[in-house]
Amino acid sequence: MDISETALDIARAARYNDFEIKRGLSLPRRHQYFDNCWILRPNIRLRVHFDTINLTRDFSALGQFYLILCRNVTIYFTHEMRYKILSTMTKMLTKQGILLIGATESVRSRKGDFNTTEFE
Ligand SMILES: C[S@@+](CC[C@H](N)C(=O)[O-])C[C@H]1O[C@@H](n2cnc3c(N)ncnc32)[C@H](O)[C@@H]1O
Repeated sequence: MDISETALDIARAARYNDFEIKRGLSLPRRHQYFDNCWILRPNIRLRVHFDTINLTRDFSALGQFYLILCRNVTIYFTHEMRYKILSTMTKMLTKQGILLIGATESVRSRKGDFNTTEFE
């Protein structure tokens, strides 16, 4: 989900240049999930649903998720808004669900409100 149609169009196209594809994706995974020119395979792309969502509005009705990935998005918001968004995402998780956030999503001062694990 994203607020920007441009960002969503880029995601829908699932095309990545060499720099982008090598940024954090191992060679075996590149071969497992991408075709030669790094276009995400249709069998995976067709399983992805893209939506325009403004995270500063109520998005809690989107449903329940096993996994929510949120990286470098809440960096734009106030600490309070960041906390609100991450709290909402946490409530949208299934019982064993995981919210995976980037370093910029940190809410260190209220970390105790979440059950957290840090990855290097
Ligand atoms: C720095 S990019 C990060 C993109 C991607 N998550 C990544 O890590 O490569 C930030 C993204 O957040 C989106 N964004 C900004 N404000 C938003 C909002 N209020 N609701 C949803 N998405 C937003 C922007 O359109 C942009 O695509």
